[in-house]
Amino acid sequence: MKYKAVIFDLDGVICHTDENHYQAWKSVADSLGITFDRTVNDRLRGVSRRESLEIMLESHDEEMEEAEKKHWSDQKNQRYRESLKTLTPENLDPGVTETLSVVRKMGILMAIGSSSKNTKYILERLGLADAFDAISDGNGITKAKPDPEIFLRAASQMGVQPEDCLVVEDAKVGIEAALAAGMDCAAIGDGTRYGMAQYNLDQITDLVAILEQTPWQSILKDLK
Ligand code: BG6
Ligand code: MG
Repeated sequence: MKYKAVIFDLDGVICHTDENHYQAWKSVADSLGITFDRTVNDRLRGVSRRESLEIMLESHDEEMEEAEKKHWSDQKNQRYRESLKTLTPENLDPGVTETLSVVRKMGILMAIGSSSKNTKYILERLGLADAFDAISDGNGITKAKPDPEIFLRAASQMGVQPEDCLVVEDAKVGIEAALAAGMDCAAIGDGTRYGMAQYNLDQITDLVAILEQTPWQSILKDLK
């Protein structure tokens, strides 16, 4: 087996909470009278809450005091958390459930590597609290993606080397973080637009074929 562990991003990979993030930021932008669309939103993928606010404020004319920034960042999180209340295991795509179960049966370790401070809450709501061998999230990190810290911490929690890990990501900064960590990356969704990852997935179930590759098949693929 080429990889000993898979590190999954959460929002936009395991679940569709990237849409909840978008709706919450859109509602804050509307409250502030700022133009905000899905193109700007793609720049927020994988980026910390605070940095997301800064990106959103790029099109705001007035300077904002620190206290006000904190207020709107908290507002976004409140609106986001409110929308998560309806999340249940039913919201998991069957392909995700199937993939997690097959990867587990293959004996490959699994972790979450997400910038979100809401990671554990979301995993609980989805019934995935015990589905992973390690959870590395936005709590207690010193540097957010594209810094490799989140992924390196996940690898170290699982006791594996970075080169033994494959990261699944939908965000440009997430792919950059995986590559900076010395890990391979499989891009999905918006992440496939950048041509930066070793693999592009049309759907999450495509991951299984990549993991089934023996090292020899991988070497032949690299030579092609
Ligand atoms: C990432 C999302 O997973 O988490 C970003 O892609 C988000 O959009 C970031 O800003 C931080 O999330 P949270 O839940 O801590 O605000
Ligand atoms: Mg994501």
